[in-house]
Amino acid sequence: MIGIVIFMCWFEPLRNNSLDFLVAQQVMSFQAAWFLDPIIHGDYPPEMRQALGSKLPTFSIKDRRKLQYKLDFIGINHYTSLYVRDCTFSPCKSSDNIDESFIYTERNGIPIGKPTAMPNYYVVPHGIEEVVLYTMRRYNNTPMFITENGYAQHSNSSMTELLNDIDRVDSMRQYLAYLNNAMRKGADVRGYFVWSLIDNFEWLYGYTVRFGLHYVDYNTLKRVPKLSASWYKQFLHGVEVQHEHEQVDTH
Ligand SMILES: *[C@@H]1O[C@H](CO)[C@@H](O)[C@H](O)[C@H]1NC(C)=O
Ligand SMILES: *[C@@H]1O[C@H](CO)[C@@H](O)[C@H](O)[C@H]1NC(C)=O
Repeated sequence: MIGIVIFMCWFEPLRNNSLDFLVAQQVMSFQAAWFLDPIIHGDYPPEMRQALGSKLPTFSIKDRRKLQYKLDFIGINHYTSLYVRDCTFSPCKSSDNIDESFIYTERNGIPIGKPTAMPNYYVVPHGIEEVVLYTMRRYNNTPMFITENGYAQHSNSSMTELLNDIDRVDSMRQYLAYLNNAMRKGADVRGYFVWSLIDNFEWLYGYTVRFGLHYVDYNTLKRVPKLSASWYKQFLHGVEVQHEHEQVDTH
């Protein structure tokens, strides 16, 4: 099976108006459909064409013929949702740590979700349902895999906090529930991969964040399963865990 993996945030209109809705669609296009539309529909997304006009190259008949074999699956790396707004009629102002001025992490001072250790990554469980349904509708329900989904902890947290990663368990539980919603609505999701099995060197933040279901001591390379590892194991065996009553031995 041959496919492609796309990093997909979910973008929500900041305000309840048609301009922000339009921008949310455009941003989804510039992020994901930019790659997937040509492969599956043989051309760049109409939303990009509308914004960029003739600056966007066109596909020749020959190119389109090469693209007709399409894909066996679409991989989706999904972590977070963000707000976007239109900047045409009133100027947008960048937040401190976001490059794009039209992207916002808060509405009326309220963050879009629970913050994580990764800047601009929030726990927004319903976002995974939205990106999967978006992909399902736009690409004729091409088989999908969630190739990445996970939760970051601060590396400098206490050992107890790192091993009793209840926030990661809550995040996984909720994201999986919303993924299940999408599947009940007909999405052909074939698999789900957690980022990550073990704490690792993150491409943007190095060793300052930990994504693992297993803790790694970077001096000895000793690995210790976190609460999330046992929760996920039991989840995969069909056992719902009452994690409130569970403690991982931190010694
Ligand atoms: C959004 O606006 C429409 C009318 O433009 C209204 O019917 C709807 O209730 C609003 N939704 C929210 C969440 O405010
Ligand atoms: C932990 O690290 C983060 C950056 O990764 C920093 O913002 C925070 O202040 C640190 N906390 C402590 C207690 O050192």
